[in-house]
Amino acid sequence: MSSILAVGIATLDIVNTLEAYPQEDEEVRALSQSRVRGGNATNSLVVLSQLGQDCSWAGVLPREPDAQIIVDDLDGYHVDLAAVQRPRSGKLPTSYIFLSAETGSRTIVHYRDLMEYGFSAFDELDLANFEWIHFEGRNVPELGKMLKKTRQVGIPCSLEVEKPRKGIEALFDLPDVLLFSRAWVRQRGFDLAEDFLESRSWNRPVFVAWGEAGAWCREPDGAVLHAPAPAVDVVDSLGAGDVFNAGVIDGFVRKLPLQDVLNHAVRLATGKCARKGLLI
Ligand code: FRU
Repeated sequence: MSSILAVGIATLDIVNTLEAYPQEDEEVRALSQSRVRGGNATNSLVVLSQLGQDCSWAGVLPREPDAQIIVDDLDGYHVDLAAVQRPRSGKLPTSYIFLSAETGSRTIVHYRDLMEYGFSAFDELDLANFEWIHFEGRNVPELGKMLKKTRQVGIPCSLEVEKPRKGIEALFDLPDVLLFSRAWVRQRGFDLAEDFLESRSWNRPVFVAWGEAGAWCREPDGAVLHAPAPAVDVVDSLGAGDVFNAGVIDGFVRKLPLQDVLNHAVRLATGKCARKGLLI
């Protein structure tokens, strides 16, 4: 068992399952609705916890009634909350999600009115307790300071780059492992993961998850590995990228060879798509 810290968010996900994705200005009835904890870093942690890792979350949880959903869920997975900041102001970030029963796609409208977790809180943590630190790519100036400190202390770390964030490219030399989403790679103008991976030298393992096509990894020496995804009926893709990231981190702390890390992450993410929720 390794101690893993993830720095990032928890959200309230209001998931409406619909027969099919609606048209603009249409009125439809949901097949079901659930209110569950979400958020990339905490999603990855609950998966890592099920894989037998010892997990801690560093993030911001406002003192308001909805926060209890987060505490109860993370407690259920034994995720340690000692590093969590609890401000009196702000709202739990909320995602309004349409899950299409037809395709399994998830469409997310996210609303956020909460301070970000910053370096001053991170600087107070006893990092010696952790064997791996995972960061969500957000709040770039503060993230840069956290990554630099993690390097100084010598703890291996990963960075998820999922959404466009101004200036994040300047941080790519700091983490030991980079995890890119298909959306980010496409928005940079690449239609193929391999083209993106070969567009520069990275000097560290770089992963790109690509949905039904599986995922790619570029090794530090430049070799590009691929793991295809087994064909499944997609029921729920919400959080599949977070499950993939958990699989990569789990593979690294178990010191698996890179191809095995990639296969493990793809297998977990594909299994997740075939069922609802994050139980693995
Ligand atoms: C899934 C997810 C949801 C959350 C949203 C935040 O990856 O973490 O649980 O609402 O993304 O961007």
